[in-house]
Amino acid sequence: MTRVVVTGANRGLGLELVLQCVQRGDQVFAGCRSPEKASSLEEISTKYPGQVTMLPLEVSDNESIAQCAVKVAAKIDGLDLLFNNAAIHMGDEHLSEVKAETLLKTTHVNAVGAVLVAQAFINLLKKGTDPKLINVSSEAGSIGGMGDFRGYNYYGSKAAMNMYTRSLAWDPETEGVTVIAIHPGWVRTDMGGSEAHLSTAESAEGLLQVADGLAPEDNGKFYTWEGHEYPW
Ligand SMILES: NC(=O)c1ccc[n+]([C@@H]2O[C@H](COP(=O)([O-])OP(=O)(O)OC[C@H]3O[C@@H](n4cnc5c(N)ncnc54)[C@H](OP(=O)(O)O)[C@@H]3O)[C@@H](O)[C@H]2O)c1
Repeated sequence: MTRVVVTGANRGLGLELVLQCVQRGDQVFAGCRSPEKASSLEEISTKYPGQVTMLPLEVSDNESIAQCAVKVAAKIDGLDLLFNNAAIHMGDEHLSEVKAETLLKTTHVNAVGAVLVAQAFINLLKKGTDPKLINVSSEAGSIGGMGDFRGYNYYGSKAAMNMYTRSLAWDPETEGVTVIAIHPGWVRTDMGGSEAHLSTAESAEGLLQVADGLAPEDNGKFYTWEGHEYPW
């Protein structure tokens, strides 16, 4: 039974990752800001009794991350798969509109949060079976792939997440854990909007296939949901 942590698990891609993981028999720890309001997650938890543990997790709050990690460590002796999925997109902006507060908040949640979650769970991951840390990033964070103006907040935060992914991948303290960034495609969620190309089911299926197929030599790579390497 694969032991999985998903952040931002109450809606969108995170919720679908939880569903597909429990459908294949995994044990899932579903972090979300307000478990008491996470009705879709509650439904999955009820349908797959014993497989889902819903835990409060605010990824910009160190104490919340620490408490979540303690609760997970109390239930399992090793973690096999961690999806740093939680993120915000506070809109696009031009230079005249950029605000430090928005830049910092977006970077905190989307990039710093992923590092702090990794920090809190690394010891448990190192005790997992073939452990993998998957940072759900975006093509929006690809500096090499950016050919025209797109924005500052979200784009900068995902570029930071990409660099943090490589830092995590090559940090001697994460040895034994395969760390990648992945672009999930353009997905029909609150963030992606209704015009997006992919359903959450298609994207999550791709993410899990890529995660399952990772070998240690994939450490530090940036993939798409289809398993193609993407330029940093
Ligand atoms: N959708 C796309 O087209 C697309 C494209 C490229 C990359 N991505 C990436 O894919 C991932 C999932 O995106 P999505 O489309 O599923 O987004 P979404 O529908 O907006 O869901 C975002 C999730 O993150 C959670 N979250 C936000 N801030 C948080 C915080 N501070 N602490 C804990 N959880 C927090 C939300 O919880 P609340 O309900 O409490 O707000 C929600 O569960 C993100 O990393 C996103 O950047 C998405």
